[in-house]
Amino acid sequence: MHLRIRALRLLRRVAFALPLLVLVASACNPDHYPQTALRPLSDYARIGDDIQTTTFKWALAVFVLVEGALIYAIFRFKGKPDDPEPRQVHGNTTIEIIWTVVPALILAAIAVPTVRGIFETNSTPTGDVLRVEVVGHQWWWEFRYPELNLTTANEVHIPVGQTVSFHMSTADVVHSFWPPRFAGKRDVFPNRETRMWFKAEQAGEYPGQCAEFCGIEHGRMAFRVRAQTPEEFQAWVSHMQTLGPKPQASAAPADSMRTASAGAKLQASQQPAKPGAKPTAPDSAAVQQPADPAYAAGEKLFMTKGCVGCHSLQAVNAPKGMIGPNLANVGARSYIGAGSFQNTDENLSRWIQNPQAMKKGVLMPNLGVTPDEAKSLVAYLRAHK
Ligand code: CUA
Repeated sequence: MHLRIRALRLLRRVAFALPLLVLVASACNPDHYPQTALRPLSDYARIGDDIQTTTFKWALAVFVLVEGALIYAIFRFKGKPDDPEPRQVHGNTTIEIIWTVVPALILAAIAVPTVRGIFETNSTPTGDVLRVEVVGHQWWWEFRYPELNLTTANEVHIPVGQTVSFHMSTADVVHSFWPPRFAGKRDVFPNRETRMWFKAEQAGEYPGQCAEFCGIEHGRMAFRVRAQTPEEFQAWVSHMQTLGPKPQASAAPADSMRTASAGAKLQASQQPAKPGAKPTAPDSAAVQQPADPAYAAGEKLFMTKGCVGCHSLQAVNAPKGMIGPNLANVGARSYIGAGSFQNTDENLSRWIQNPQAMKKGVLMPNLGVTPDEAKSLVAYLRAHK
């Protein structure tokens, strides 16, 4: 009697808690958490997601059966105070065989797709594959497109429907490349290449994150995946290929054009209507040098304040081994500080004046830029789209 009352009380409490649980669970709507791995957007991510779903279904079935049997036994075989001692048994071969074989079969059913998935995700993609080289830096990401001779940072543009093969390493410590909507985590090491591939299914901008503790600003070593339709991606590539070295800044333009030949050839093959391909147009300054005096002042500051020592403004033929992110298209990026702050004029100005206040420990020093100077620099950088 006493037990039944207690059970009833417990039930009532559970009944009260249930709506609360539903409410809490509804806050777990993946829209609130864009960095979710539970809504895959690529073939690669689906392999992992399918394995997880399979495993979860088996776990749920085991849970329901075991807990069901337990609850059934509790109520069906409940003892009363004056019951005699139950019959004592030792061992039951049949039951022992069953509870050894059944879990072994379930584990096999999980192991088969898991092992297959491991092989699939570690295979080398073939066919129409876009190669992207990823270099981890404290605390930002460099993305190079060797076939297109392009370099960018912190926002990797990829075409939807084409497999992208990432070849990854790092300039300093161990990081981990993780674009959760598209793939799992993959560590990146110095002097060793790790690979990852996926084919994006949906256009959009999605967050990514360094997933290996790599120093004080590990948490702000994020990036964006900009998945674009093939046409949008092609337009982006064509645009980026205009962001080459400036004619006056380049001491040996003939040389740089030679090394840029791969990109130029590719560009030529994609744009047959480009006669001669003489390096007249591919120049960021020629493309967008606004008459704005702030732009000119910003350019001068950029060259004299030390910015150029760490940042390149060339997407084409960009120098390797720069300490800071490539800024060729910084004006068009969604975020600054490696996916950390929205790329507004206000944030950019604050960043230029005092990066240490926004991202403590970042390798960019405070350069003593005044608010007025920052305004000019923002105008200059904003024009680099
Ligand atoms: Cu790089 Cu954490």
